[in-house]
Amino acid sequence: MAQVSIRRLVKEYEGGVQAVKGIDLEIQDHEFVVLVGPSGCGKSTTLRMIAGLEDISGGEISIGGTVVNDIPPRDRDIAMVFQNYALYPHMTVFDNMAFPLTLRKFSRDEIRRRVEKAAAILDIGQLLDRKPKALSGGQRQRVAMGRAIVRDPKVFLFDEPLSNLDAKLRVQMRTEIKKVHQIVKTTTVYVTHDQVEAMTLADRVVVMNNGIIEQVGPPQELYHRPATRFVAGFIGSPAMNFIPAVLEQASGALNLRLPGDIVLPVPAERSPRYTGHAGRQVLFGIRPEHLTEQRQGRATYADLDITPEVIEPMGMETLVHFHLEGTRDLCARLDPTVPADPGAPIRLTADLANMHLLDPESGRVL
Ligand SMILES: Nc1ncnc2c1ncn2[C@@H]1O[C@H](COP(=O)(O)OP(=O)(O)OP(=O)(O)O)[C@@H](O)[C@H]1O
Ligand SMILES: [Mg+2]
Repeated sequence: MAQVSIRRLVKEYEGGVQAVKGIDLEIQDHEFVVLVGPSGCGKSTTLRMIAGLEDISGGEISIGGTVVNDIPPRDRDIAMVFQNYALYPHMTVFDNMAFPLTLRKFSRDEIRRRVEKAAAILDIGQLLDRKPKALSGGQRQRVAMGRAIVRDPKVFLFDEPLSNLDAKLRVQMRTEIKKVHQIVKTTTVYVTHDQVEAMTLADRVVVMNNGIIEQVGPPQELYHRPATRFVAGFIGSPAMNFIPAVLEQASGALNLRLPGDIVLPVPAERSPRYTGHAGRQVLFGIRPEHLTEQRQGRATYADLDITPEVIEPMGMETLVHFHLEGTRDLCARLDPTVPADPGAPIRLTADLANMHLLDPESGRVL
């Protein structure tokens, strides 16, 4: 087990493409860290540099206190699990899992002990004599994980290990991976483009965008205190609503003037934070779950009259899509018992205790 330190890490591919632009990241021993971000943001490149499968163009990676920049992959004591499980078709499950140990000349007894232990953790003890073609996708994924576990490496590296599975199995295997980590506690770096997978698995989530790290933090912190527009919009589904607004000073209080002459009072406890921005254009951000059916009883509640365009009943909630003057694709989450029809105006409550204000130019959350 080990910590992983990444300092000013750069990857420049031939032709001058900077895939990773000088990132810093400290991963603690036993920690489960997820790199998440859109396609092409540099997640796999970063992971492959940790693994040693990709040369680094600048900076430093250390594993367990040792700089590994010039250490070949096989000597880094890491185990990697990919999207395609790369099992050997002619070998049984047992032999597939035993393979890395056989290569390293472990004794037969030790191999059997480790494979059986990993098989028990993954609940595949009854499959050890089968060949991969006689396994389901989820079972193959478990074998691939088993092959990583038997090594007892310093670090697990996962690159989109669940993306070949159907939606239901993904959710199941997600829980499985979390359970395994709670048992073996091996330091893990996990890459996905799926923000739900990132939020559910990670001790800390690393949001990447265009070769840089936008923000690092525990899932709840990224959700409730995003630092940038990118993170605010990327984490959470349906995504946060962003509405252009002007922050106005009005007799000792601050108001937000939205398009269509909607005026929302900034909660008193937030005012000190925003006073310096009075008179400026801002971006008002609010998550769909903080735009709900009309409610009363809190000082931070404010009314908002809208006309639904599209209604999506989800069972546990109803999503209402609408627009305001100049801003499209807004979404509110209503209790499913609340009547809502396309074209029929309704009054919503915005819980301004949960609002965000952003600088429209820099994208920073104020
Ligand atoms: N061998 C290569 N040569 C040149 N450019 C590359 C190479 N591999 C990756 N890139 C570029 O580097 C950038 C980052 O790629 P990377 O594979 O790390 O993205 P990713 O975040 O893993 O995306 P995805 O979610 O699609 O897997 C992309 O712009 C990609 O086109
Ligand atoms: Mg990738």
